[in-house]
Amino acid sequence: MTDSLALGAMWFGTLVDEHRSFEILDRYVDAGGVWIDTANSYAFWVDPSGFGGQGETVLGRWLARRPSVRHRVRISTKVGAAPTEAGPWPETAEGLSAGAIKSGIEDSLRRLGTDHVELYWAHMPDPATPLDETVGAFDELVSAGVVGRLGCSNYPVWQLERARQISRANGGTGFTAVQQHHTYLQPRPGVRPSGLRFGAVTEEVLHYLEHHADMALWAYTPLLSGSYTRADKPLAATYDHPGTTSRLAVLDEIAAETGTNRNRVVLAWLAAGIPAVRPVVGVSTVEHLDEAVAGVSLKLTADQRERLDSAV
Ligand SMILES: NC(=O)c1ccc[n+]([C@@H]2O[C@H](COP(=O)([O-])OP(=O)(O)OC[C@H]3O[C@@H](n4cnc5c(N)ncnc54)[C@H](OP(=O)(O)O)[C@@H]3O)[C@@H](O)[C@H]2O)c1
Repeated sequence: MTDSLALGAMWFGTLVDEHRSFEILDRYVDAGGVWIDTANSYAFWVDPSGFGGQGETVLGRWLARRPSVRHRVRISTKVGAAPTEAGPWPETAEGLSAGAIKSGIEDSLRRLGTDHVELYWAHMPDPATPLDETVGAFDELVSAGVVGRLGCSNYPVWQLERARQISRANGGTGFTAVQQHHTYLQPRPGVRPSGLRFGAVTEEVLHYLEHHADMALWAYTPLLSGSYTRADKPLAATYDHPGTTSRLAVLDEIAAETGTNRNRVVLAWLAAGIPAVRPVVGVSTVEHLDEAVAGVSLKLTADQRERLDSAV
């Protein structure tokens, strides 16, 4: 395995307790897993204190208990969405001023117990801060060796491109990764599947990626929280349209041909697509993890991929 998957650590330390989180992380590393995705804000909305940080804290405790593991994994974390005070979110989010980014990375490194992260994301756009300030602060972290690479999540394409131009003009490295919601089923037009205006992959995002070979695409909530396979998690109304019927029929066909299931076919389809996508899978059991690993390892034939692509 597998550089083609990222383990989402959003629920670690909140909905998934520390013991189970360690079990999943150990299994992931044993399976050859590399990328672990978290954020300074995880998971404030289920945290009684309301500020988040548990995800990074549990990850940091695991790294401390497994000293030989740090060089084998790559840590991806984010700044910009954590609330700074009680009140309605996102109005209370820290944003992406130079100060918020500086204190964000310091706090993340402290919780993680490390002196660097391999990938640092702008979690969501901050309309109140000039892009030059945000980009300059991120680029400085790369120059200082604290951060390996930069990405942005939930950004509109025009803002991503503008940010990259600013970085380039200033001799910085800029954003080279995008993280949005993406899966096989397509949302109804006009619906925001992640709740955020620019939170989901669109044709425009894919087109941008096809023409910028230095960019990576990370897909969050790729398994629709379990809805592909679980009766207790019915598909959201977002997917209530005729295209879903066609796509589920092809998924089922290919799951039967490969002796697998919908989840595995979705992950295989994402991981070997053009552009290739790294699914960020959230798991709460080791069985889920095993399924994710098997999914990104499944090879689809050209014919199967063509049938999946053309179902609308
Ligand atoms: N950048 C952003 O704004 C953003 C937003 C959201 C998420 N993310 C990242 O993406 C990661 C994944 O997001 P997510 O948790 O929303 O999405 P997900 O991977 O689609 O859903 C995870 C949930 O699906 C269920 N599940 C997972 N594997 C399963 C399997 N094999 N069979 C049946 N059910 C399964 C589990 O539910 P139960 O626990 O209920 O069993 C699990 O908690 C997060 O951890 C985070 O790192 C980023």
